[in-house]
Amino acid sequence: MSVSTPPATAAPIELSSHDLMQLEDQYGAHNYHPLPVVLSRGEGVHLWDVEGKHYYDFLSAYSAVNQGHCHPRIIKALTDQAQKLTLTSRAFFNDQLGRAEKYLCELFNYDKALLMNSGAEAVETALKLARRWGYEQKGIAPNQARIVVAEHNFHGRTTGIISFSTDPDSTGGFGPFVPGYQVVPYDDLGALEAAVQDPHVCAFLVEPIQGEAGVVVPSDGYLAHAHEICKRHKVLLIADEIQTGLGRTGELLASCYEGLHADMLVLGKALSGGVLPVSAVLARNEIMLGIKPGQHGSTFGGNPLACAVMVAALDVLLEEKLTENARALGEVFRERMRRVQAKRPEVVELVRGKGLLNAVVIKPHPDGRTAWDVCVTLMERGVLAKPTHGDIIRFAPPLVITEEQLHEACDVIEEVILAF
Ligand SMILES: Cc1ncc(COP(=O)(O)O)c(C=O)c1O
Repeated sequence: MSVSTPPATAAPIELSSHDLMQLEDQYGAHNYHPLPVVLSRGEGVHLWDVEGKHYYDFLSAYSAVNQGHCHPRIIKALTDQAQKLTLTSRAFFNDQLGRAEKYLCELFNYDKALLMNSGAEAVETALKLARRWGYEQKGIAPNQARIVVAEHNFHGRTTGIISFSTDPDSTGGFGPFVPGYQVVPYDDLGALEAAVQDPHVCAFLVEPIQGEAGVVVPSDGYLAHAHEICKRHKVLLIADEIQTGLGRTGELLASCYEGLHADMLVLGKALSGGVLPVSAVLARNEIMLGIKPGQHGSTFGGNPLACAVMVAALDVLLEEKLTENARALGEVFRERMRRVQAKRPEVVELVRGKGLLNAVVIKPHPDGRTAWDVCVTLMERGVLAKPTHGDIIRFAPPLVITEEQLHEACDVIEEVILAF
């Protein structure tokens, strides 16, 4: 096989949005269906496309950019650390990892943290820890451990994780699947109680709010009761807060609404403020120490660059009181959307969410237009949001948004929905 000389397009020539979309279409995998906008700059809640048009970001890279685009403090931590040391692997200690782990453990009240990169890797890590705990601490017979998950879950895209997805888009054509999982309906304590009777169950993996399913908020008390049920049956509760955590829902963790301290906590996305992939699993010693040297890891997991960025991203989240802002402005957002719903109930079916993780469910128009068309019009008017499952629009701006900016964007959303 030969490698040709670099193509002409590698030169820094000006390309339009149209050209750049064509490039992705021709040379990239078609595993996403993006809105037709090509972004080249971001600052706080603001984004600009390559032609210089301004947008408000109402997706925040699926809640990874809670601290706002290119937050100067996080970027400073990145560039400072990048000039000193970026990667050592875990073959050696580095001077950033221990500090970062201590910060995480003290902030979330766990004994130990294990750092990975993507959210899916952290979920896989939690599943392995749970199985190991099941064998060593619960006495489950070898290779018999089972993990209970919720219907309509989204925990990532690895072959292991999609093995317990109930979404045909995630699973179709990707089998065979990993055994050892049982799906129960979300927000159904009876089904959970029945499932954990099985003595082979070591864990229940759950999202406190199902983000990808369309911001599905369970009944009050669901998580707290689920934890009680798990404790009674010696089953670990694993909270996947990759999307709901770090201020997004108006609490530091969505679990906090119910006073839940999960046996294992999984974080990702905003752990780096959207600067680079950083994820983590937190647990108590009894669980974390089940894995011994050489039994799990990642070349990049816990790298000094990621650690420095993570500490800065958490500092920003706490010092700028972004959680409090999310809680207050979430109320404003839902109030405004409920007024739109009252005006056009034939268009807006439902408004739901917590903090600044919200969804508006759009009834398809008789002429065939859907939530996708609403999002395209919003894009043309300078607000970026993305539909999920055909009829749901998730609205999740960076948590640094001000009330004035929120109202400005809500004015646009209102006009677009009223004209739909
Ligand atoms: C709840 C939840 N878990 C896991 C993931 C997977 O994270 P990543 O895309 O970083 O692998 C996501 C991503 O959307 C998520 O929302």
